Amino acid sequence: MLVAIDGPAGSGKSSVSRAAAEQLGFGILDTGAAYRSLAWAAVESAADLDDPDAVMAILDTWTYTITLHGPQRVTVDLGDGVAHDVTAAIRQHAVSGLVSRVSQHPPVRDRLNAMFRRIVAESALPGVVIEGRDITTVVAPDAPVRVLMTATAAVRAQRRAGELAGLTHEQVLADIEARDAKDALVVDFFTPAAGVTLVDTSDLNFEQSVQAVVDIVRAAQCAA
Ligand code: DC
Repeated sequence: MLVAIDGPAGSGKSSVSRAAAEQLGFGILDTGAAYRSLAWAAVESAADLDDPDAVMAILDTWTYTITLHGPQRVTVDLGDGVAHDVTAAIRQHAVSGLVSRVSQHPPVRDRLNAMFRRIVAESALPGVVIEGRDITTVVAPDAPVRVLMTATAAVRAQRRAGELAGLTHEQVLADIEARDAKDALVVDFFTPAAGVTLVDTSDLNFEQSVQAVVDIVRAAQCAA
Protein backbone atom coordinates (compact mmCIF):
# COMPACT_ATOMS: atom_id res chain seq x y z
CA MET A 1 0.00 0.00 0.00
CA LEU A 2 1.46 3.31 -1.08
CA VAL A 3 0.32 6.51 0.65
CA ALA A 4 1.32 9.76 -1.11
CA ILE A 5 1.32 12.95 0.96
CA ASP A 6 2.18 16.45 -0.28
CA GLY A 7 2.11 19.81 1.40
CA PRO A 8 4.01 23.02 2.12
CA ALA A 9 6.53 23.64 4.92
CA GLY A 10 4.90 23.65 8.34
CA SER A 11 1.66 21.97 7.22
CA GLY A 12 2.53 19.11 9.55
CA LYS A 13 3.27 16.91 6.55
CA SER A 14 6.60 15.48 7.76
CA SER A 15 5.82 14.82 11.43
CA VAL A 16 2.23 13.74 10.76
CA SER A 17 3.29 11.40 7.93
CA ARG A 18 5.91 9.82 10.19
CA ALA A 19 3.51 9.25 13.09
CA ALA A 20 0.77 7.93 10.77
CA ALA A 21 3.25 5.52 9.14
CA GLU A 22 4.31 4.26 12.56
CA GLN A 23 0.71 3.71 13.63
CA LEU A 24 0.00 1.82 10.40
CA GLY A 25 3.18 -0.27 10.59
CA PHE A 26 4.35 1.30 7.32
CA GLY A 27 7.69 2.78 6.30
CA ILE A 28 8.15 6.51 5.68
CA LEU A 29 10.06 8.03 2.77
CA ASP A 30 10.81 11.72 3.33
CA THR A 31 11.69 12.97 -0.18
CA GLY A 32 12.67 16.45 1.00
CA ALA A 33 15.66 14.82 2.73
CA ALA A 34 17.08 13.88 -0.68
CA TYR A 35 16.75 17.44 -2.01
CA ARG A 36 18.31 18.73 1.20
CA SER A 37 21.15 16.19 0.96
CA LEU A 38 21.78 17.21 -2.62
CA ALA A 39 22.07 20.87 -1.60
CA TRP A 40 24.44 19.81 1.20
CA ALA A 41 26.49 17.75 -1.29
CA ALA A 42 26.65 20.65 -3.77
CA VAL A 43 28.02 22.98 -1.08
CA GLU A 44 30.43 20.30 0.18
CA SER A 45 31.85 19.75 -3.31
CA ALA A 46 31.84 23.48 -4.18
CA ALA A 47 29.46 22.90 -7.11
CA ASP A 48 27.36 25.70 -8.58
CA LEU A 49 23.83 25.03 -7.28
CA ASP A 50 22.30 26.97 -10.17
CA ASP A 51 24.05 24.90 -12.83
CA PRO A 52 21.94 21.81 -13.66
CA ASP A 53 24.95 19.97 -15.16
CA ALA A 54 27.02 20.51 -12.01
CA VAL A 55 24.17 19.22 -9.83
CA MET A 56 23.55 16.25 -12.14
CA ALA A 57 27.27 15.39 -11.90
CA ILE A 58 26.82 14.92 -8.15
CA LEU A 59 23.87 12.60 -8.75
CA ASP A 60 26.04 10.59 -11.16
CA THR A 61 28.59 9.82 -8.46
CA TRP A 62 26.87 9.94 -5.09
CA THR A 63 25.43 7.08 -3.07
CA TYR A 64 22.44 8.16 -1.01
CA THR A 65 20.79 6.15 1.75
CA ILE A 66 17.81 6.87 3.98
CA THR A 67 16.12 4.67 6.56
CA LEU A 68 12.42 3.96 5.99
CA HIS A 69 11.82 2.58 9.45
CA GLY A 70 12.77 3.74 12.96
CA PRO A 71 14.72 6.94 13.60
CA GLN A 72 15.66 8.73 10.39
CA ARG A 73 19.29 8.32 9.28
CA VAL A 74 20.51 9.82 6.03
CA THR A 75 23.96 9.22 4.54
CA VAL A 76 25.72 10.60 1.49
CA ASP A 77 28.85 9.14 -0.11
CA LEU A 78 30.26 11.68 -2.58
CA GLY A 79 32.12 8.96 -4.47
CA ASP A 80 35.12 8.66 -2.16
CA GLY A 81 33.81 5.67 -0.23
CA VAL A 82 33.01 7.71 2.90
CA ALA A 83 29.36 7.61 3.99
CA HIS A 84 28.80 10.99 5.67
CA ASP A 85 25.95 11.00 8.19
CA VAL A 86 24.05 14.15 7.13
CA THR A 87 20.92 13.52 9.24
CA ALA A 88 21.45 16.64 11.38
CA ALA A 89 23.30 18.81 8.84
CA ILE A 90 20.46 18.79 6.30
CA ARG A 91 18.04 20.28 8.86
CA GLN A 92 20.14 23.43 9.32
CA HIS A 93 18.45 26.69 8.39
CA ALA A 94 21.26 27.50 5.96
CA VAL A 95 20.55 24.31 3.99
CA SER A 96 16.78 25.01 3.89
CA GLY A 97 17.53 28.31 2.19
CA LEU A 98 19.57 26.63 -0.57
CA VAL A 99 17.41 23.62 -1.47
CA SER A 100 15.15 25.43 -3.94
CA ARG A 101 18.21 26.16 -6.08
CA VAL A 102 18.91 22.46 -6.69
CA SER A 103 15.27 21.33 -6.76
CA GLN A 104 14.41 23.80 -9.55
CA HIS A 105 16.22 21.77 -12.25
CA PRO A 106 13.83 19.41 -14.13
CA PRO A 107 16.49 16.72 -14.90
CA VAL A 108 17.44 16.68 -11.21
CA ARG A 109 13.80 16.13 -10.25
CA ASP A 110 13.42 13.33 -12.83
CA ARG A 111 16.50 11.56 -11.49
CA LEU A 112 15.43 11.85 -7.85
CA ASN A 113 11.86 10.77 -8.69
CA ALA A 114 13.24 7.59 -10.31
CA MET A 115 15.28 7.01 -7.15
CA PHE A 116 12.19 7.45 -4.93
CA ARG A 117 10.20 4.94 -7.01
CA ARG A 118 13.10 2.48 -6.80
CA ILE A 119 13.43 2.83 -3.01
CA VAL A 120 9.69 2.18 -2.59
CA ALA A 121 9.70 -0.76 -5.04
CA GLU A 122 12.64 -2.40 -3.25
CA SER A 123 11.10 -2.04 0.21
CA ALA A 124 9.75 -5.21 1.80
CA LEU A 125 7.44 -3.28 4.15
CA PRO A 126 3.63 -3.79 4.00
CA GLY A 127 3.22 -0.16 3.05
CA VAL A 128 5.15 3.07 2.60
CA VAL A 129 4.07 6.65 3.23
CA ILE A 130 5.95 8.85 0.79
CA GLU A 131 5.86 12.57 1.44
CA GLY A 132 7.01 15.66 -0.44
CA ARG A 133 5.67 18.30 -2.83
CA ASP A 134 4.87 16.42 -6.05
CA ILE A 135 4.26 12.87 -4.83
CA THR A 136 0.49 12.90 -5.46
CA THR A 137 0.94 14.38 -8.93
CA VAL A 138 4.30 13.24 -10.38
CA VAL A 139 6.06 10.59 -8.31
CA ALA A 140 3.08 8.36 -7.46
CA PRO A 141 -0.07 9.65 -9.20
CA ASP A 142 -1.51 6.11 -9.09
CA ALA A 143 -1.06 5.62 -5.32
CA PRO A 144 -4.27 4.25 -3.76
CA VAL A 145 -4.16 7.00 -1.12
CA ARG A 146 -3.20 10.55 -2.01
CA VAL A 147 -3.41 13.42 0.46
CA LEU A 148 -2.63 17.12 0.23
CA MET A 149 -2.01 18.55 3.69
CA THR A 150 -2.44 22.29 4.11
CA ALA A 151 -2.61 24.94 6.82
CA THR A 152 -2.76 28.72 6.66
CA ALA A 153 0.59 30.52 6.35
CA ALA A 154 0.14 32.07 9.82
CA VAL A 155 -0.42 28.66 11.46
CA ARG A 156 2.54 27.16 9.60
CA ALA A 157 4.79 30.02 10.74
CA GLN A 158 3.65 29.52 14.33
CA ARG A 159 4.57 25.81 14.17
CA ARG A 160 7.94 26.50 12.60
CA ALA A 161 8.75 29.29 15.10
CA GLY A 162 9.06 26.65 17.81
CA GLU A 163 11.75 24.92 15.77
CA LEU A 164 13.70 28.06 14.82
CA ALA A 165 14.80 29.67 18.06
CA GLY A 166 15.90 33.28 17.85
CA LEU A 167 13.64 34.33 14.97
CA THR A 168 10.48 36.43 15.36
CA HIS A 169 7.08 35.23 14.12
CA GLU A 170 7.28 37.80 11.30
CA GLN A 171 10.72 36.55 10.22
CA VAL A 172 9.57 32.93 10.20
CA LEU A 173 6.41 33.86 8.26
CA ALA A 174 8.43 35.82 5.68
CA ASP A 175 10.86 32.94 5.41
CA ILE A 176 8.11 30.35 4.86
CA GLU A 177 6.28 32.49 2.32
CA ALA A 178 9.50 33.16 0.38
CA ARG A 179 10.40 29.45 0.29
CA ASP A 180 6.86 28.42 -0.72
CA ALA A 181 6.84 31.01 -3.50
CA LYS A 182 10.13 29.68 -4.89
CA ASP A 183 9.11 26.02 -4.57
CA ALA A 184 5.65 26.67 -6.04
CA LEU A 185 7.28 27.93 -9.25
CA VAL A 186 8.27 24.31 -9.87
CA VAL A 187 5.36 22.33 -8.39
CA ASP A 188 1.90 23.42 -7.29
CA PHE A 189 1.45 21.94 -3.84
CA PHE A 190 -1.46 24.15 -2.80
CA THR A 191 -4.16 22.85 -5.15
CA PRO A 192 -5.29 19.24 -4.75
CA ALA A 193 -5.16 17.35 -8.06
CA ALA A 194 -8.19 15.28 -9.10
CA GLY A 195 -8.72 12.41 -6.67
CA VAL A 196 -6.46 13.89 -3.98
CA THR A 197 -7.96 14.28 -0.48
CA LEU A 198 -7.40 17.68 1.12
CA VAL A 199 -6.57 17.65 4.84
CA ASP A 200 -6.50 21.15 6.32
CA THR A 201 -4.66 20.97 9.64
CA SER A 202 -5.09 24.67 10.56
CA ASP A 203 -7.60 23.79 13.28
CA LEU A 204 -6.32 20.31 14.11
CA ASN A 205 -3.76 19.43 16.73
CA PHE A 206 -1.04 16.90 16.03
CA GLU A 207 -2.99 13.82 17.18
CA GLN A 208 -6.08 14.86 15.22
CA SER A 209 -3.98 15.38 12.08
CA VAL A 210 -2.40 11.92 12.43
CA GLN A 211 -5.83 10.38 13.01
CA ALA A 212 -7.19 12.08 9.88
CA VAL A 213 -4.50 10.44 7.74
CA VAL A 214 -4.83 7.03 9.46
CA ASP A 215 -8.62 7.13 8.92
CA ILE A 216 -8.17 7.85 5.19
CA VAL A 217 -5.71 4.95 4.82
CA ARG A 218 -7.92 2.52 6.81
CA ALA A 219 -10.93 3.46 4.65
CA ALA A 220 -8.88 2.76 1.51
CA GLN A 221 -7.71 -0.57 2.96
CA CYS A 222 -11.34 -1.56 3.64
CA ALA A 223 -12.38 -0.54 0.13
CA ALA A 224 -9.54 -2.53 -1.50
O1 DC B 1 9.86 18.90 2.94
P1 DC B 1 11.15 19.69 3.17
O2 DC B 1 10.93 21.06 3.74
O3 DC B 1 12.18 18.93 3.90
O4 DC B 1 11.70 19.91 1.68
C1 DC B 1 12.92 20.55 1.47
C2 DC B 1 12.91 21.24 0.12
O5 DC B 1 12.88 20.28 -0.94
C3 DC B 1 11.78 22.22 -0.11
O6 DC B 1 12.34 23.49 -0.38
C4 DC B 1 11.05 21.71 -1.34
C5 DC B 1 11.91 20.65 -1.91
N1 DC B 1 11.17 19.45 -2.27
C6 DC B 1 10.74 19.30 -3.57
O7 DC B 1 10.96 20.21 -4.39
N2 DC B 1 10.10 18.17 -3.96
C7 DC B 1 9.84 17.18 -3.07
N3 DC B 1 9.22 16.07 -3.46
C8 DC B 1 10.28 17.32 -1.72
C9 DC B 1 10.92 18.48 -1.35
